[in-house]
Amino acid sequence: MTSTGLSTIGFIGSGNIGGQLARLAVAHGYSVVMSNSRGPETLADLVGELGPGARAATPAEAAAAGDVVVVTVPLKAYEAVPVAPLSGKVVIDTNNYYFERDGRIPALDEGRTTVSTMLQEHLPSSTVVKAFNNVMAADLTTAGTPAGSAGRRALPLAGDDVEAKTLVATLLDEFGFDAVDAGSLEDSWRFERDQPAYVVSMTADEIPGKLAAATRARG
Ligand SMILES: NC(=O)c1ccc[n+]([C@@H]2O[C@H](COP(=O)([O-])OP(=O)(O)OC[C@H]3O[C@@H](n4cnc5c(N)ncnc54)[C@H](OP(=O)(O)O)[C@@H]3O)[C@@H](O)[C@H]2O)c1
Repeated sequence: MTSTGLSTIGFIGSGNIGGQLARLAVAHGYSVVMSNSRGPETLADLVGELGPGARAATPAEAAAAGDVVVVTVPLKAYEAVPVAPLSGKVVIDTNNYYFERDGRIPALDEGRTTVSTMLQEHLPSSTVVKAFNNVMAADLTTAGTPAGSAGRRALPLAGDDVEAKTLVATLLDEFGFDAVDAGSLEDSWRFERDQPAYVVSMTADEIPGKLAAATRARG
């Protein structure tokens, strides 16, 4: 039995972060359904490595199969994320904005929205929780420790639904990290790219100060 009580995690995106989260998921007893842009046949190696608890599918199939679904794609692709099969589901958003890769998005450049608010607007009938965006992929399988460990690394999460945040906090804990509630999706710019809380190792006690030190461009 998993800590969340869920059995299947769907993945839209199976690259650095998707692959690493899937490794954690299968290690903790979840089934995973992986997808990417090029088709299930291109995921044979990853699925083979992940073992019998993993299968490859299309994004729509992965979205439909997941009890909870991780969206982990380059931000420029977020509007390709299937909407209908994610209806009613908790969606974990790991995405970050890299204008060098994603192109300029004025609403982000000017501090008028957040990455996760954009995904939530694309998925109006889903519940988006931002998590795992501020940890290097490699650290996901190496930096986690059991609950209660001294100096345990913590990760912030954000969302507009308390129940969904509790679910994702449980998953974070199961995967080896303390979770710190960083507020709503509108607040989540505080741990976006280049903020003090971005991709640095922090304990739960250290995160509030880092979030408070964030500054934002104003358009
Ligand atoms: N790398 C990190 O350490 C890190 C840390 C935190 C957050 N992030 C953020 O998390 C997201 C994923 O990062 P990553 O490093 O895992 O990227 P990545 O290695 O480039 O993987 C991206 C994945 O998304 C898939 N994808 C692209 N377009 C898609 C579409 N239209 N439909 C379905 N799948 C699609 C890709 O599939 P194909 O290969 O078939 O195109 C690939 O499997 C990014 O927003 C990134 O900024 C990354």
